[in-house]
Amino acid sequence: MAFLSDTLARVKPSPTVAVTQLANELKAQGKDVIGLGAGEPDFDTPDNIKEAAIAAIHAGKTKYTAPDGIIELKQAICAKFKRENGLDYEPAQISVSTGGKQVLYNAFMATLNPGDEVIIPAPYWVSYPDMVKLGQGEPVIVEGKPELGYKITPEMLEAAITPKTKWFLFNSPSNPTGAGYSRAELKALTDVLMRHPHVWVMTDDMYEHLAYDGFEFCTPAQVEPALYDRTLTCNGVSKAYAMTGWRIGYAGGPKELIAAMRKIQSQSTTNPCSISQWAAVEALTGPQEFLGEWVEVFKRRRNLVVGKLSAIDGITCPTPEGAFYVYPSIKGMLGKTSAAGTLIENDEAFAKALLEEAGVAVVFGAAFGLSPNFRISYATSDAALEEACNRIAAFCEGLV
Ligand SMILES: Cc1ncc(COP(=O)(O)O)c(C=O)c1O
Repeated sequence: MAFLSDTLARVKPSPTVAVTQLANELKAQGKDVIGLGAGEPDFDTPDNIKEAAIAAIHAGKTKYTAPDGIIELKQAICAKFKRENGLDYEPAQISVSTGGKQVLYNAFMATLNPGDEVIIPAPYWVSYPDMVKLGQGEPVIVEGKPELGYKITPEMLEAAITPKTKWFLFNSPSNPTGAGYSRAELKALTDVLMRHPHVWVMTDDMYEHLAYDGFEFCTPAQVEPALYDRTLTCNGVSKAYAMTGWRIGYAGGPKELIAAMRKIQSQSTTNPCSISQWAAVEALTGPQEFLGEWVEVFKRRRNLVVGKLSAIDGITCPTPEGAFYVYPSIKGMLGKTSAAGTLIENDEAFAKALLEEAGVAVVFGAAFGLSPNFRISYATSDAALEEACNRIAAFCEGLV
């Protein structure tokens, strides 16, 4: 009898975590490495949020909570959905979990049966297909068009839908491309879903607040209210409030689905950290002004990176609408050889040679299901970005 489960064999470890770990190991060995792999803001969690957590500890809010969140946080989330997205949810429609990741995971575990299909536009956040596989489902990958900033069209969505489709997983602004769907582009997709009443929408709005140049963020149930009853609107405090380590994510959706997710959570992690939940109440109800300042910083960095990478012969780099990633194509570099003799046969070879020869850690495109590309997270200092781009340019110039 095999000790490890068959399901595990279908799943791979997170490549973004692996790249970050490798870069840290090289740094620990004294190598000069600039890590552009990690998907987290370099800002510190704002002080008012930290203070709320400390106050919660002193007030003894250190015990188990209701499995899917304290009522105060659920109320704050309902107010956020109303204020920012025009969506009406009541607390019984809210699920709070240990990070946005667990929200998505619970939803898949609660709904997937063997063979159920989940449509995932590529390039995708690395965890989506593996979570679907852990739930015995089948990821159906739809590759975005490079000329559309890697977005998909309504025709592509329509063609991917089958009687077995359970979910359409939507993520805008996207990790890894930063691409954001305009209201009209999203409406065109929701129009398709209106013709297929058996398909549910899981929308991952994690990068909602990180949008540039006046891009208007919108979410499916807002653009098409008729989809409200079959939409799970997922979000979290990790990215917008620089709270990745606090592990709080949340979702709003139909009560039956939320209750099913609660059941999974009550038998796995019991509840998200009580202290982090109080910190998240402060994040959602406290001052929001700092967000505008952070967005300006990210925008400046995006422009710096897009400008520098676009100037490199053989690299094409679309200007994304949001998040803190760019996803340049290295098509023009395939088949060349690096100064140290590595054949650039694919994006994985490119990223490996870039790390070993130039000391820049990026994540290769195949990890996100669309090649030949690499992802840069520009959530790091201007100086580090400037130096990293110079190194990438020198590395690329050295390819023959
Ligand atoms: C698109 C997307 N969704 C969800 C998550 C998970 O966020 P959390 O850290 O809250 O689990 C991430 C984190 O990288 C992400 O990029």
